[in-house]
Amino acid sequence: MPGLVVVEHPLIEDCLAHLRDAGTGVADFRRYARLLTQLLCFEATRDLSLRQGAVETPLERAAARFLDDRVVLVPVLRSGLAMLETVEALFPEARVGFVGLERDEGTAQPRGYYQKLPAGIAGSRVMILEPMLATGGSARATLEIVRAAGATDVRLVCVVAAPEGVQAVNERFPETAIYSAVLDRALNERKFILPGLGDFGDRYFGTG
Ligand code: URA
Repeated sequence: MPGLVVVEHPLIEDCLAHLRDAGTGVADFRRYARLLTQLLCFEATRDLSLRQGAVETPLERAAARFLDDRVVLVPVLRSGLAMLETVEALFPEARVGFVGLERDEGTAQPRGYYQKLPAGIAGSRVMILEPMLATGGSARATLEIVRAAGATDVRLVCVVAAPEGVQAVNERFPETAIYSAVLDRALNERKFILPGLGDFGDRYFGTG
């Protein structure tokens, strides 16, 4: 599907197999989710800019390249928090913005209840962390929020994507790349992804 990058690697397949397995307990779910997030970020940040510099090795001066982009991470509450720690470890300088959304029972649309974005988001590389791209409603709402704050370079990192979610994001934000470990089949009547892995937040945080 346009706009979607399915990141392929045997390690990713293996992580996904464990995450899908209903018998995987909290500790292993967390372990595989963290590893998978790391692998996805490797691909999702391949285009970051580098600045030329130099370092002194124990033997001589050597040319070296350093990361030169400001990175902003925006986990979508609550399940995006499960990816945050891992991505923060990769980008210790990253600023973090938060977007909390809940379903408006009247309109069935996501409604923001909390929002705090860092200054300087306009010139930053923004990564929205949303493990399960199901209907795409919260991803779209988060994209609206970061775009309204001036962000122009925004990518979405998910663990599992549904065709409905990818299409919803593509329609409104065709320039936004979506990185996912897999494109699953469809949504069920409760808007869960099939075959999916169940409720990501519940399985990661041990709730539900
Ligand atoms: N959120 C989840 O955690 N799982 C789904 O399948 C869909 C949305």
